[in-house]
Amino acid sequence: MSQQLRSRRSNLAVPGSSPKMLEKAKGLPADQVFMDIEDAVAPIAKPDARKNIVAALNEGGYEGKVRSVRVNDWTTQWTYADVVEVVEGAGANLDCIMLPKVQTADQVVALDLLLTQIEKSNGLEVGRIGIEAQIENAKGLINVDAIAQASPRVETIIFGPADFMASINMKSLVVGEQPPGYDVGDAYHYILMRILMAARAYDKQAIDGPYLAIKDLEGYKRVAGRSAALGFDGKWVLHPDQVAAANEVYSPRQDDYDHAELILDAYDYYTSAAGGARGAVMLGDEMIDEASRKMALVVSAKGRAAGMSRTKTFEKPEA
Ligand code: GLV
Ligand code: MG
Repeated sequence: MSQQLRSRRSNLAVPGSSPKMLEKAKGLPADQVFMDIEDAVAPIAKPDARKNIVAALNEGGYEGKVRSVRVNDWTTQWTYADVVEVVEGAGANLDCIMLPKVQTADQVVALDLLLTQIEKSNGLEVGRIGIEAQIENAKGLINVDAIAQASPRVETIIFGPADFMASINMKSLVVGEQPPGYDVGDAYHYILMRILMAARAYDKQAIDGPYLAIKDLEGYKRVAGRSAALGFDGKWVLHPDQVAAANEVYSPRQDDYDHAELILDAYDYYTSAAGGARGAVMLGDEMIDEASRKMALVVSAKGRAAGMSRTKTFEKPEA
């Protein structure tokens, strides 16, 4: 079974065609690295990219990071060979396969079946390798609920804004910006929320895609801040400078994390016999109840997954 609580605040894209960048990724503090054989790799460079990726994964050095490989989508001629070569070559050193441009649940099932055969015939643990499903067109979005449920291997649902904008004929030139002439609401809100609902309904992580203007760090933070505010778990980073921004934006603030841990301890105490078996109590100026505990659990889980430590402890009231 895939691990769904891995921290994925920053997901670093690395073209598989570049051994230099595969090497450099090891030293960057990204939560996840995905090695690409798809759109960042030219068609004639794909066979070498597969080999570079297998070599990099087996050489190691990505400890502490989720290791994912993006294969080509099922409408191309490359997908099966991408999966077979990478998983046969480095399946034990790989956490997920990222499937781009997913349009139907069947496409996830096909990948699941292929992975299962490769795992069985290579003595790998069956079902350990997860699937990350990229939603990059209208058909994928309208099928996102089925896609999220298509296999227990699915760990994340990822928004692919560049392909998505092209697929729906959106006029924006810079990913994350409003299309010219559009000033009512937020062009991305519906898409992000649709993906988020599917992810939350089926216990998957929701990941925001790339921000292409890599020199515009403020723009990155603004766009990341929007999906983080909705509840997304992380975002792609295309450049080392974006890593720290993603890690910051998708972590709870220290105050919020401390407060969440305090609520969990306080609620635990007050609902116990020793604390009076109460269900709604005051914590400082705030009334907390079971719903507060649920909200606190979310912040606490994100903080713990991000390796945060609390700076405040709950003091039981004097008897
Ligand atoms: C990512 O793959 C995108 O298309 O935005
Ligand atoms: Mg794409």
